[in-house]
Amino acid sequence: MAKKIVITSGKGGVGKTTLTANLGIALSSMGLRVALIDVDFGLNNLDVALGVENKVLYDVSDILNGRCRVKQALVQHNVFKNLFVLPSDNLSVNANVTGQNIKLIIDSISSVFDYIILDCPAGIDVGFHRAVSCADRAILVTTPNLTSLRDADKVVSILKSYKLDKINLVVNRVRGDLIMGKKSIDYFDIESMLKIELLGVLPEEDNVFLSSGYTLPRGSTSYKAYKYLAENLHFNKKRIINLTDKYSGFFGSIRRSIKRSV
Ligand SMILES: Nc1ncnc2c1ncn2[C@@H]1O[C@H](COP(=O)(O)OP(=O)(O)OP(=O)(O)O)[C@@H](O)[C@H]1O
Ligand SMILES: [Mg+2]
Repeated sequence: MAKKIVITSGKGGVGKTTLTANLGIALSSMGLRVALIDVDFGLNNLDVALGVENKVLYDVSDILNGRCRVKQALVQHNVFKNLFVLPSDNLSVNANVTGQNIKLIIDSISSVFDYIILDCPAGIDVGFHRAVSCADRAILVTTPNLTSLRDADKVVSILKSYKLDKINLVVNRVRGDLIMGKKSIDYFDIESMLKIELLGVLPEEDNVFLSSGYTLPRGSTSYKAYKYLAENLHFNKKRIINLTDKYSGFFGSIRRSIKRSV
């Protein structure tokens, strides 16, 4: 049976969809079978993040209205053949899509996947509850800025009211140079503040996410960060990439001042 994980956040735009897509890629690169489900009805864009938007024939509402079967709506990734996405549509915002509906869809494919990952809408409205009610565990994404952290704190307490096996933290858009310069909060301090276990940290990435279906270059820090994250999730480990190392010491301080001036 697949493990069902919801990717959530308080504040919008902190990187849930980007994380869902790249975590899916990292897990499928390990040979695991992964389905990503876009449950952000209205602002759905997971298919675009994965570069499969031109292959979409059916979506969640077609399944719910009996126009297709679940397997017909799953879109296979162009490169990572173990990775599938179930797109949502932008018409269902007010339609009768319930957590129970989504659960039925998940149950019908649970035996053929190792992971089913749900890309949740931002905030704590009905869409959030619908997504969380279908999951075994949650990953809360935050960035290191104060507004995002404050919203994350509220979401943690709501997540704790669900019977989830685990609630983990991912800190996205981390800048090691700012942490070393004491201008940004350290990710381990965020872990202590939110009191949920850190599963991974992801660096601020200057070059990516500009095009649909962008895949991280092997050898890049982001690629390595996602690899660690996926391994922590699958093997229940806690190996956190060090994003401050290259900014410490004599050469590190030079790197910091160069980064500041660009
Ligand atoms: N580590 C990163 N470095 C740089 N840019 C990033 C990073 N992660 C995400 N982004 C960018 O931030 C923007 C928002 O990301 P994304 O759409 O994944 O957020 P979201 O939480 O799903 O948003 P929403 O709440 O609207 O669904 C995108 O333009 C994405 O490319
Ligand atoms: Mg999103």
